[in-house]
Amino acid sequence: MPLKEDKINYTLCKYASRGQARVPVVLQGSQGSGKTTGARAFARQQGFSESEIIEIAGHRGVEACDLLGHLILSNGQTLWKDGAITQAFRSVGCCEPDELPGLVNRSQRSGASVFLLIDEIYRIPVREREIFLNALQPDVIHGVRCYKLRTGRALPWKDGAFREEMIYTPCHLLSIVATSNVGIEFDVEEGCAASRERFVVAYVETDEGLFKEVVRAALRERGFDPKLSVKFLKLHRALGNAKSDHTLNGALTLRTVVRAIENAFYPDDLGHTLFEIGQIWVEATETGAPLVEQLKVLETSIKAAGFTLETC
Ligand SMILES: Nc1ncnc2c1ncn2[C@@H]1O[C@H](COP(=O)(O)OP(=O)(O)O)[C@@H](O)[C@H]1O
Ligand SMILES: [Mg+2]
Repeated sequence: MPLKEDKINYTLCKYASRGQARVPVVLQGSQGSGKTTGARAFARQQGFSESEIIEIAGHRGVEACDLLGHLILSNGQTLWKDGAITQAFRSVGCCEPDELPGLVNRSQRSGASVFLLIDEIYRIPVREREIFLNALQPDVIHGVRCYKLRTGRALPWKDGAFREEMIYTPCHLLSIVATSNVGIEFDVEEGCAASRERFVVAYVETDEGLFKEVVRAALRERGFDPKLSVKFLKLHRALGNAKSDHTLNGALTLRTVVRAIENAFYPDDLGHTLFEIGQIWVEATETGAPLVEQLKVLETSIKAAGFTLETC
């Protein structure tokens, strides 16, 4: 689905365009607001092919070797396998600084460029995130603005000695987009301020236009009448209000609405699938049972939007 001409797209175009990237961008927004989908759509829109898009899925278990690379044994030989960042840097970079001007000339002819998506960057443990902190500090070498990555790989040097591999990658050839849930950066370990400064922030908000567009597409795909989107919009507004005045713990996001449509067996089942999915916004009592008042708010909102829902 094409991205709308909005503020996020403006920031992405300004800083992460193919072949003209300048600064890494972080898309911040609530869960399920369309950050990852938006970043991928932007990459495709910019003409990056699947092999030119390198994704890192951020989670607590990400280790330095996943990002930089590590040695593997293959047929009795020890080989180096690139991690995701190294792969991105290497595909448009070089290992000798004086090769940079030639690399830039060649890339102008070949159009080589790479898109690095660091999904949920603040879920990556702080130690591993330091790798970005170091690598994304731009430097100007031989007149070329570039990022430098120490990969940890040993390369043979003079007189039997080794040196650590360094990859120099022109900034404009590496479009970097990260995503993060709003607020998560306040909840993570120290040391993030500096890494946050490496990124330009764009806030992702689901406006009603996009919400309706996504709902209509999901309904069509499921074989349901796209006009049902009117009910979803009504519910979206009602639950948004319920979240604002703290009567419920969450609102209808793009992810939850698409899931509710996918889960429904027939159109009259939509009220139920919405109610089932809405359980995640209902707080639990001390015994673990859902709060009856909140269940009632959910049920009333679903019915008021025009969906069928027998009982809860
Ligand atoms: N622009 C879009 N077009 C179509 N579906 C979308 C769009 N944005 C989000 N979605 C739907 O919402 C779901 C959640 O979006 P996602 O990008 O994963 O959210 P986030 O990364 O912000 O948590 C997707 O799996 C998709 O079904
Ligand atoms: Mg995401």
